Amino acid sequence: MHDTTAIAAPQAPAPPSPLPPPQAGQGRVAAAGKNANPRYAELYRRYPTIDYLRRGARRRLPHFAFEYCDGGSGKDDAGIKRNWAGLDAVELVPRYGVMPSLPPCEVELFGRRYAAPIGIAPMGGPAIVWPGADEYLARAAQRARIPYTFGTVGCSTIERIAAIAPDVFWFQLYRAARNDHAIGFDLARRAQAAGCHALVLTLDVPVRTTRAREVVVGLGGAFNPDLKMLFQMLMAPAWTMALRQNGIPRFSNLRPYAGDNASINDMVAFARREMGGAFTWDEVAQYRERWKGTLIVKGIMHPQDAEKAVSLGVDGLFVSNHGGRQIEALPAPIDVLPAIVRQVGNRATVLYDSGIRSGTDVVRAYALGAAAAFAGKAFLWGLGALGGEGAGHVIDILIEETQAALGQLGALTPEQARSVVIRQPGALHF
Ligand SMILES: Cc1cc2nc3c(=O)[nH]c(=O)nc-3n(C[C@H](O)[C@H](O)[C@H](O)COP(=O)(O)O)c2cc1C
Repeated sequence: MHDTTAIAAPQAPAPPSPLPPPQAGQGRVAAAGKNANPRYAELYRRYPTIDYLRRGARRRLPHFAFEYCDGGSGKDDAGIKRNWAGLDAVELVPRYGVMPSLPPCEVELFGRRYAAPIGIAPMGGPAIVWPGADEYLARAAQRARIPYTFGTVGCSTIERIAAIAPDVFWFQLYRAARNDHAIGFDLARRAQAAGCHALVLTLDVPVRTTRAREVVVGLGGAFNPDLKMLFQMLMAPAWTMALRQNGIPRFSNLRPYAGDNASINDMVAFARREMGGAFTWDEVAQYRERWKGTLIVKGIMHPQDAEKAVSLGVDGLFVSNHGGRQIEALPAPIDVLPAIVRQVGNRATVLYDSGIRSGTDVVRAYALGAAAAFAGKAFLWGLGALGGEGAGHVIDILIEETQAALGQLGALTPEQARSVVIRQPGALHF
């Protein structure tokens, strides 16, 4: 399937913050990780890193579901591998003698405080990977207080996600241009009415490309489970149970436009018909005019595109290559991040996604100038390995590792990570 068409724990007191106190109504930032989740130690013993969760997901999910979340475009997932290699190649030089205890890692994004410079990237059809995924992700993000970006082709509704995650709800929009953007503008209106904190316009899916692993498992178009898929479901009892609990994944958000009785394949066809191409700069300007809150564009890979976005008055931008899911020739976003950060300066907030698999990766992106790093696949692997509690465990791992990486570098705050010496062999110079 295509991204545009794919089908609690008690809280410990927050650590001392280097930032000003929260604004009225924002509450206190919750501590995460082993301080907050009584099951953390047990989960950590089984799944100490994101990589272990990926292996767990491969074992536990129906094969088609794992292929949907894990695969990229082009030959042998080369783009995904480049994203990982680009991050792995970034070296950070530590300073010692300054770090008596783990530093806090709270951040402020667009005037709101979050527990860490970490977020959940928007994903279409995550409920294929784990039925009910959108709501599990939203709940975990709200509990940990990190941003959750609900996707246009998610399998819940704007209103429901806003109710589950009122403090951390962001919404991603794909281009739906027919009828003068009637559907797109209406989705934005609903998001604003529901209290969404940021609208994210995805720019980097101008064309459909082939994701071979999706195609060969039967997710390349309409959803018609064959015997093979049914057998895979039978072999994955926890997933099948989640399907019984949460129902067949549907693009519920699009119901008002596709019709209440639309079947899953009607929905797939509807999304394919209505959502195509990527926003033009003129269209970004139109959304800027209508959307009064924080506006972010996603998929920026060139400093001049960043400049254009800033000139149109966006508040933030995601440096991202869609997690290696478009074409494999794109550079690793981490390698274009420094040039984009230099271009943007303090005129907008630069966010990062693509390839994040550890807190160390988060700190690499932060050190190179991103205000926060978001992950996509890591969260789906977490759900695949652990079901509903997987999203929270991914957040816990990422926060623990982020703090550990900051501590190891001798950074007393995330900001101080920006002054470490960095070697980045792949950085692009424009
Ligand atoms: C299964 C899946 C579906 C996705 N669907 C969307 C989408 O609907 N809209 C969007 O802007 N990005 C989508 N993305 C891209 C993510 O938002 C993000 O850019 C990417 O996953 C980050 O890379 P990572 O997976 O290596 O962390 C999707 C990613 C995955 C893995």
